Amino acid sequence: MNVLVTGGAGYIGSHTCLELLQNGYGVIVVDNLCNSCAKSLDRVRELTGKEITFYEGDVRDEALLRKIFAENEIGCVIHFAGLKAVGESVAKPWEYYDNNLNSTLVLTKVMKQVGMKNIIFSSSATVYATDNEMPLQETSRTGNCTNPYGWTKYMSEQIFQSFATAEPDWSIVLLRYFNPIGAHESGRIGEDPRGVPNNLMPYITQVAIGRREQLSVFGDDYDTPDGTGVRDYIHVVDLARGHVAAVKYVATHQGCEVFNLGTGTGYSVLDMVHAFIDVNRVPVPYVMTDRRPGDVGICYADPSKSEKLLGWKAIHDLKDMCRDSWNWQSKNPMGYGE
Ligand code: NAD
Ligand code: UFG
Repeated sequence: MNVLVTGGAGYIGSHTCLELLQNGYGVIVVDNLCNSCAKSLDRVRELTGKEITFYEGDVRDEALLRKIFAENEIGCVIHFAGLKAVGESVAKPWEYYDNNLNSTLVLTKVMKQVGMKNIIFSSSATVYATDNEMPLQETSRTGNCTNPYGWTKYMSEQIFQSFATAEPDWSIVLLRYFNPIGAHESGRIGEDPRGVPNNLMPYITQVAIGRREQLSVFGDDYDTPDGTGVRDYIHVVDLARGHVAAVKYVATHQGCEVFNLGTGTGYSVLDMVHAFIDVNRVPVPYVMTDRRPGDVGICYADPSKSEKLLGWKAIHDLKDMCRDSWNWQSKNPMGYGE
């Protein structure tokens, strides 16, 4: 079966393409390369020895999508394409609502026209309201998002729920990712953020490689064991495996189902920094600074629904994540720019 992967050249997309190919699926990618580079797909081809059909273009381009569905027999869609920088979304809300909502609307419109009913969507733990008990279950409260990016994920989930009501024979899976880090063990594909990284692990690896002077730890007065923020970090290869499990799930189910993709374990910022230093034997200078606006103290998943219904659970531990993040960064100091 062939899977259409929107945003397949990106960080999570490229790792998912690799897992799909290794599990015998054909892969078609559409990506406008606004936050990625086609080299990631070359490297997936090289790692798997398999072909990927690539269309460079925008998911909001209805004619392009019709062409893709006409030229390929597609059994399932995984929709990664979107903008994802929280801070940028506050400064550029129009771009975020336009890209993240219209890509979903155009894609699902064309799917309806061609009779394609199976889709997996990249949602985020950011849709959960900030006043929930931990761990977060799929039934925990959502909403009260603190930025336009979060609202686009929240609204996209609403859009998919409405489609599922209108089209009961569609099969829709909404995957709420926690904090993906790490890279493929080969060190050939990984996360390559543009500009200053927003997220913790790419910042740590760029400090370790000497591209940045020191890490700022955002807040040491949270109600957590060491005062720094706690998150559920998940290895990107586990996340990619979760998508393969979801592809199998949508083939045999109908309706709209939500799943957490996390490990169920929370680590603090200092846990991450110290684990990275211990595993890789490289220094990571850091300073304590004020909290980052909009951050919550603790966020981690209850992943038991995914284990029960998707037959998936994370298998990589913190050491694997730290080792593979550094393996990628040290072999590619400037990312795909080499
Ligand atoms: P990424 O930026 O590396 O990948 C997204 C890809 O989509 C990029 O290759 C980009 O060029 C492409 N793209 C963006 N808009 C497009 C459009 N209109 N048409 C075609 N291609 C387009 O990001 P990622 O980390 O791989 O994230 C993938 C998805 O997962 C995103 O939807 C993101 O919001 C979601 N997500 C990511 C995280 C995370 O921490 N990385 C957490 C939760 C959810
Ligand atoms: N942090 C630092 N210094 C940094 C960067 C981050 O101390 O330079 C801290 C943050 O304060 C937080 C933790 O490290 O306590 C993790 O921060 P990230 O920015 O890596 O991740 P977030 O949990 O803030 O957000 C990420 C994605 C969101 C997504 C969310 C849930 O950026 O898009 O995970 O999936 F919605």
